[in-house]
Amino acid sequence: MKHFLKLSDFGKHEFDHIIERTTVLKKRFKQYIPYQPLTDRMLAMVFEKSSTRTRVSFEAGIYQLGGQAIHLDAQSTQLGRAEPIEDTARVISRMVDLVMIRTYEQDKVERFAAHSRVPVINGLTNEFHPCQVLADVFTFIEHRGSITGKTVAWVGDANNMSYTWLEAARIFGFTLNVATPAGYAMEESRVAESDRAHLKTFTDPMAAASGAHLVTTDVWTSMGYEAETETRKKAFADFIVDTEMMDSAAKDALFMHCLPAHRGEEVTEEVLEGSQSVVWEEAENRLHVQKALMEYLLLGKIDS
Ligand code: CP
Ligand code: NVA
Repeated sequence: MKHFLKLSDFGKHEFDHIIERTTVLKKRFKQYIPYQPLTDRMLAMVFEKSSTRTRVSFEAGIYQLGGQAIHLDAQSTQLGRAEPIEDTARVISRMVDLVMIRTYEQDKVERFAAHSRVPVINGLTNEFHPCQVLADVFTFIEHRGSITGKTVAWVGDANNMSYTWLEAARIFGFTLNVATPAGYAMEESRVAESDRAHLKTFTDPMAAASGAHLVTTDVWTSMGYEAETETRKKAFADFIVDTEMMDSAAKDALFMHCLPAHRGEEVTEEVLEGSQSVVWEEAENRLHVQKALMEYLLLGKIDS
């Protein structure tokens, strides 16, 4: 049994398979060809933070594969009344086939997985957002071919998305340019020795974006850090992806954002809605990659 708690839980050969399957499943979806290998399988989705894309893509995805989803949150379950995560894991995983969790500390999904009888998927923690970066890498490959050897520029906060991009850089073999304001840089302790060859850090976002094949950003304040919003607005004021920044990137550079976006903060309306932006395809691809992921976790490698 495998879990998907961070990108590095899978090897490159597994991602190659999932990306291949995503292409097949997406094509079937577009052609309205039913494919229901997960009939009667049940996905429990636990949300301790808000979500639009993650909830809809997992719920629609499991239905399309023939299964069903149960939506749980902290407020209406015993999780909000301090039932230990280990007990919750033991109970839920006796009743369903697969669990997706969105929560705060990574440690919580790790503890859940350690006590689960079924595969667990990280739907976002403070530390990582593997489903999103999987969709982003797929979106890049779909538009531009292999990402190996390319340069991805991350402009903004050192958060769950940027640390997951760093894992992707090591797995897929590309360079990650990370530009953060002073005081918001990536933590040394979270950059493994094997990551260093793939990471270049900057305090000037224009320098990070220069020549990049993909420019990507995220909100200045992630969920759970709302108390820092005003301080962050000041610190990140120059970290806006605008037309000038996209012009300094490679000629055919793409723009991505995991969404939700704050127009006029981390990205201008012009870039978000511009011709280099693939944010809507990127969001849609959450559905397709997660269907391939659920298929892989429950059925292993399929080639039909
Ligand atoms: N990108 C993403 O995970 O979006 P949601 O927060 O809406 O799920
Ligand atoms: N970094 C953001 C991503 C939202 C999908 C957050 O954690 O709030």
